[in-house]
Amino acid sequence: MPTRAVCPGSFDPVTLGHLDIITRSAASFDEVVVLITHNPHKHGMFTAEERAQLVTEATTHLPNVSVDTWTGLLVDYTQREGIDVIVKGLRSSLDYEYELPMAHMNKRLCGIDTFFLLTEQHYGHISSTLCKEVARYGGDVSSMLPEPVAQAMNAKLSEE
Ligand code: PNS
Repeated sequence: MPTRAVCPGSFDPVTLGHLDIITRSAASFDEVVVLITHNPHKHGMFTAEERAQLVTEATTHLPNVSVDTWTGLLVDYTQREGIDVIVKGLRSSLDYEYELPMAHMNKRLCGIDTFFLLTEQHYGHISSTLCKEVARYGGDVSSMLPEPVAQAMNAKLSEE
């Protein structure tokens, strides 16, 4: 049976750190769904559709990766779609503290395991939130984002 993994997150927008986790997941699992999921605690720069489009553009070279959006509980999606595992990236102990209760909750809700991949060190300081903040103040974040994402962020900021 092929193993289906999901990489859930806000991806507002997808960074090279995310792309590293997606790429390594795609090398370890038969199929990977990057799921743009609603986080009620975060206010977005891009719509869910725009985020999905940017992830699609950044992952065209990965044939076993697909992209989807979801506004409900993550475990409802994994059960509906026959997903076997959740994959998350960990940059630091702060991410660990944030992710641990979610992994336990998802396990409790439907038995699904969460696999954690350690972020490559040179991506450890990159987050969508910091990239947006630095870019808003005119800083150059183009080396931290896939090329189409850097262009889309510049376009979005020039509209603000
Ligand atoms: O990239 P993020 O914002 O840190 O990802 C968090 C996310 C979207 C994966 C998490 O908020 C989530 O799973 N949301 C879906 C709703 C849900 O299932 N909530 C309960 C999580 S235990």
